[in-house]
Amino acid sequence: MKKRIMIIILALCAGMTAQADEGMWLPSLISQRIADMQEKGFRLDAEDIYSINQASLKDAVVLFGRGCTGELISPEGLLLTNHHCGYGQIQKHSSVEHDYLKDGFWAMSREEELPNKGLTVSFLDRMEDVTDMILKGYDPKMSEEERASLVKKNSDALITEATKDGNGLRATVEALYYGNQYFMFVYREFSDVRLVGAPPSSIGKFGGDTDNWMWPRHTGDFSMFRIYADKDNNPAAYSEDNVPYRPKKFFRISTRGVQEGDFTFIYGFPGSTREYIHSEGVRYIEEVSDPHKIALRTLRLEIMNRHQAQSQKVRIQYSSKNANVSNAWKKWQGEVKGIKKMKTVAVKQEYEKAFAQWAKGTEYEGLTDRIAALYNELQPYSFATDYYSETVRTVELANFAMSMARLFVTKDSVVTFDNAKATELADAFYKDWYQPIDKESFVAVMDEYEKNVPEEFKPAYYKEMMGKYGNAAAWAEDLFGTSLFADESRARALTAEDKAAVLADPAVAFFNGFLKWYTSDVQPHTVRINRELDLAYRDYMRGRMDFAEATDGTAGREAFYPDANLTLRVAYGHIKGYSPADGVYYTPSSTIKGIMEKDNPDIFDYNIPQRLRDIYAEKDYGRWADASGEVPVCFIATNHTTGGNSGSPVINADGDLIGLNFDRVWEGTMSDIVFDPEICRNIALDVRYVLFTIEKIGGADYLFNEMVFAE
Ligand code: ARG
Ligand code: ASP
Repeated sequence: MKKRIMIIILALCAGMTAQADEGMWLPSLISQRIADMQEKGFRLDAEDIYSINQASLKDAVVLFGRGCTGELISPEGLLLTNHHCGYGQIQKHSSVEHDYLKDGFWAMSREEELPNKGLTVSFLDRMEDVTDMILKGYDPKMSEEERASLVKKNSDALITEATKDGNGLRATVEALYYGNQYFMFVYREFSDVRLVGAPPSSIGKFGGDTDNWMWPRHTGDFSMFRIYADKDNNPAAYSEDNVPYRPKKFFRISTRGVQEGDFTFIYGFPGSTREYIHSEGVRYIEEVSDPHKIALRTLRLEIMNRHQAQSQKVRIQYSSKNANVSNAWKKWQGEVKGIKKMKTVAVKQEYEKAFAQWAKGTEYEGLTDRIAALYNELQPYSFATDYYSETVRTVELANFAMSMARLFVTKDSVVTFDNAKATELADAFYKDWYQPIDKESFVAVMDEYEKNVPEEFKPAYYKEMMGKYGNAAAWAEDLFGTSLFADESRARALTAEDKAAVLADPAVAFFNGFLKWYTSDVQPHTVRINRELDLAYRDYMRGRMDFAEATDGTAGREAFYPDANLTLRVAYGHIKGYSPADGVYYTPSSTIKGIMEKDNPDIFDYNIPQRLRDIYAEKDYGRWADASGEVPVCFIATNHTTGGNSGSPVINADGDLIGLNFDRVWEGTMSDIVFDPEICRNIALDVRYVLFTIEKIGGADYLFNEMVFAE
């Protein structure tokens, strides 16, 4: 073990150039990586990936909503993203008569495409290093507060300047490398984005939460939209007069197929990673935070699953909530296993030792110890915060009650109540609320709260309630029995007169009782300590780069990629299987045969459309079968991705689209913290399965007319 650790340390010290396939690189600096990419098979140039002078691949990639990626696949604004990214829109258009989630949806003409209020897509116009401008006027004698307000002032000015032409321009300034560098990102945001098509959930969500984060996978996780613009091709609010947007660039589609070893490249918006985190931070995640959060969610999921299995109505009501709770729950389990398997804490400690040794006599002396001390100070508060958010804040009734309470506004001692908004909130809440689940969950999580939260971190309000009721079950009886929000007709009849009653309501009191404690007794500490940690990390990050350079020259320095922060990145690698455990090897692609092996009409997640069964029986694959005679479905590759990369284009050596990213393998989900090239794999949908589904299931192959196929 020592030896393995030493090898990893050496690799870490030497920078990560040798660590195949790890990294989420900044597109504007891709010239630093292009030689490596080309060596690995890429046949285009840096300017083809990102350019401010000519159309480049970046002009075909969008931030979809505020958490997914999408890509343009036609000169007429046709966009591809995941089914789970378009889920909210598909659901909003669904009703009992038109259940697009269940049956799928295909616009058979432009007129049938469905507008989506609130949905935007953003193209990156340009990105630039603005560090000098952001720190203009900075003086090392400044306090951190002064520095922060300077940064804010300078970024506001830059943003105003960059967006002054209007036209959907939107800009952000982001700190990279813990604030050692600042980049400005200028986007063009479009808000008329219409739903073109989606497969039935039995394809788009095939395997459900059972297969989520797993390989082998057979999920047809895609949906299609179209971007509309005004007559001048500029962003515009929805209007019947808008026309399909003509993008500067769109992807050609390659149907040639993929093979193990093929070069792949992902272009997208990864959300958040912490690759440079200190061993103490990892230890907390591995030993405390993830296990507690997992245990709490296990309880809630057990309750949801049980009730959902008993009623069709409840199953639908809680399908999206369950998926959300389950997604992170399952990811954390994989993450903990991966962190342990990689011996991440020990490896990081070794690295920190080497760093501390090197740092003696430099400005970085004592830095790693200081970070460890800050973590120790922070941890009790982090624990209280984790517990608060995974218990108190999960009580649906309390969240709803509080959002209603916030609709009372007092001005010049006149109270008003926003009835329209209240109706909207009530519609959304009651449609999907099942009291027994909420109440049982309350009891389950509050029982854990009692057991696991140290006395000094229990709010006075909590102690008072427990003094009154004795236990969470009795408390729940009273809260759910007497809250006016538990009674739909009473809640819907609220007027401005009811302000006092609402503020005294037990559900509102519950929310407020904890919130007051949290904002006065916890948050100030987490904010203060995190601020100090951020500062220490800023030095640590710089120190790590200096350390790498001292051991490995510029190559060492250039091996650092900034943590993901929902800005556009490039990840490259190749198609490759993996061995999740001794004696097991997974090949890198799946086919329709595997769908049939899983098919089971009795299990909701595995009940495929009859149409697919018929196609399979008749081998009616048209042009979509591969050399083995089956239709390819998914594949895995070594690209470094995270949440937010969903919907990202998977691109081949020639820059053509071969797939659509949507997930990672479970054994590799620690990649947000530590990347193992042996195990970490992203999961993509083969573009041929997308085309097969459009044609054979949707009957919408008229869409092929506007696509361009490579070769
Ligand atoms: N695991 C994927 C991601 O993190 C897919 C999540 C949606 N699917 C689901 N079954 N919950 O976003
Ligand atoms: N499923 C994730 C997403 O929605 C991708 C991942 O975490 O690998 O972005």
